[in-house]
Amino acid sequence: MSAEKKSKIIGVALAVCIVCSILVSTAAVTLNSIQEQNQKLDRIRNILAAGNLLDRGKDIQKIYNEYIEADLIELSTGKVVHPENYTNELNVSDFDIRTMANNPKYSTSIPANEDIAQIKRKPTHMPVYYVREEGELEEIILPVYGKGLWSTMYGFIALNRDLHTVDGFTFYSHGETPGLGGEVDNPQWKEIWKGKKAFDENWNVKIEVIKGRVDPERESAKYQIDGLSGSTLTTRGIDNLIKYWLGENGYGPFFEILRKELSDDQI
Ligand SMILES: Cc1cc2nc3c(=O)[nH]c(=O)nc-3n(C[C@H](O)[C@H](O)[C@H](O)COP(=O)(O)O)c2cc1C
Repeated sequence: MSAEKKSKIIGVALAVCIVCSILVSTAAVTLNSIQEQNQKLDRIRNILAAGNLLDRGKDIQKIYNEYIEADLIELSTGKVVHPENYTNELNVSDFDIRTMANNPKYSTSIPANEDIAQIKRKPTHMPVYYVREEGELEEIILPVYGKGLWSTMYGFIALNRDLHTVDGFTFYSHGETPGLGGEVDNPQWKEIWKGKKAFDENWNVKIEVIKGRVDPERESAKYQIDGLSGSTLTTRGIDNLIKYWLGENGYGPFFEILRKELSDDQI
């Protein structure tokens, strides 16, 4: 092959590489914002799913705007952060749990003996979502997360305004095996959560996801959820993460404030 032919081939190959890399990087940059937008919409869809609000219309954003009010709370005190104190990094609309849990300024490490959800770090703040109908508080929806077998699972639990009764539960992100741990997405299993009681009369966390099936005859059945069959480790992960987030190291301080405000009828 002549030297001229060789350099032509190299030239064409280089040109193809350059054109392709321009196309790929343009697509990546252009699609990035669409991807972020879709992730945000998916999170909203799951907040609405936990709160059983998806049947209120087709436009997810519209339902969200109509029924949901979001606040940012400081986990250690349970106090709401006033929007005046929001910053570019810390605000409710852009809040991303993964990003915040990795931000040293806005996260804390969890001592191993407390880390039942196996998340190692948690944000110092979390968003909470109030569902209101005609101004009245109906439900509160809280983000929860923790380790399953293969992945960290991210979801929402909705509690009725009595703060005892579960109205809904859903995961929006996990990497458990389809057909095994992935059965967390099974609508029939999610249905079991509705109506279960999260706390006993002294506000101790009582809800649990057990191995096997709940015996409906037992008094404890109102606190228990069937485990996923053949998926003991995912089941245990869910049991742990729910206990962590509803407990004193999770939303405990926030619940205390909320209970008082609800009994004083301030919200
Ligand atoms: C390919 C493969 C995928 C699995 N995925 C899961 C899973 O997502 N969640 C889970 O708890 N167990 C999963 N398991 C099973 C666990 O390894 C373990 O055997 C199981 O949790 C024990 O459950 P059991 O006591 O109900 O049998 C998987 C096993 C295999 C071989």
